[in-house]
Amino acid sequence: MRIRVLGSAAGGGFPQWNCNCRNCAGARNGTVRAAPRTQSSIAVAGTDAAAWALVNASPDILAQLRVHSDLQPARAPRDSRLAGIVLVDAQIDHTVGLFMLRESTAPLAVWCTDAAYADLTGGNPIFSVLGSYCGIERHRMGSSGEEFALDRVPGVRWRAIAVAGKPAPYSPHRSAPVRGDNVALVISDAASGKAAVYAPGVGAIEPALWSALEGSACVLIDGTFWSDEEMVAQGLAAKRARDLGHLPQSGAGGMLEWLQRLPRATRKILIHVNNTNPILDEDSPERAALASAGVEVACDGMEITL
Ligand code: MLT
Ligand code: MN
Ligand code: ZN
Repeated sequence: MRIRVLGSAAGGGFPQWNCNCRNCAGARNGTVRAAPRTQSSIAVAGTDAAAWALVNASPDILAQLRVHSDLQPARAPRDSRLAGIVLVDAQIDHTVGLFMLRESTAPLAVWCTDAAYADLTGGNPIFSVLGSYCGIERHRMGSSGEEFALDRVPGVRWRAIAVAGKPAPYSPHRSAPVRGDNVALVISDAASGKAAVYAPGVGAIEPALWSALEGSACVLIDGTFWSDEEMVAQGLAAKRARDLGHLPQSGAGGMLEWLQRLPRATRKILIHVNNTNPILDEDSPERAALASAGVEVACDGMEITL
């Protein structure tokens, strides 16, 4: 099984179009050593190297497809290597890319929870709008760890586990989160049983998620913010990390403390990194702290084979 990071940044990407924070300005003018990153998505292939599951449809999907020749059409006048789409939530950065795939000759096969489905037909009716284009073939995904498969992505098994978080800001139930608004995906190689967890949005580490992390060879987990007050302290926004449903990396009970409890052999990768996060700067003390804790930062194009 291959997991390829298509986009490793959080919503807004890096650098963000309207942002002059130290990272964004420094990435533009070359004073900060930090690679640009597109918005949050991975692709997964099993035994058929030409059949990929797209996990989250980023606003940057077209640019992401363009840089990977093996994700491009080659077999027929109209052709797609995307054999199914799985959504971890209904956030803008994970769903707007569906609009970019509207030329599909077949309805887009999409796996998502009932909570995400409600938002994508209600508060932000992307699925309904796509009904006038290629259409959606929706597959219901439970969020209690039930196993499922994508029929056209052989050799990969999937489970979704509800995680603490928030629905998107546009959601009619933004202030009253429900189970299934956000999930972690446990993605396993059917032959070896080796698993990776992909969880770009995690508000807290609860027992079901923790046991999935403990059982995985690789974790790709919420790397949005280094500190709770990161955007407030930089004068960029009034929201704290926890207000947005993201557990910060530093501090008591933060993501780093949790990751350090996992076995040394577990590959630990922070993903969905916000442009304000100092870990993007390869020369920052925060990045050095990660390195000494054995924690990596995802970059676009990173590939993991399990
Ligand atoms: C989030 O996860 O909070 C998002 O990245 C927000 C967004 O898409 O703007
Ligand atoms: Mn996001
Ligand atoms: Zn910025």
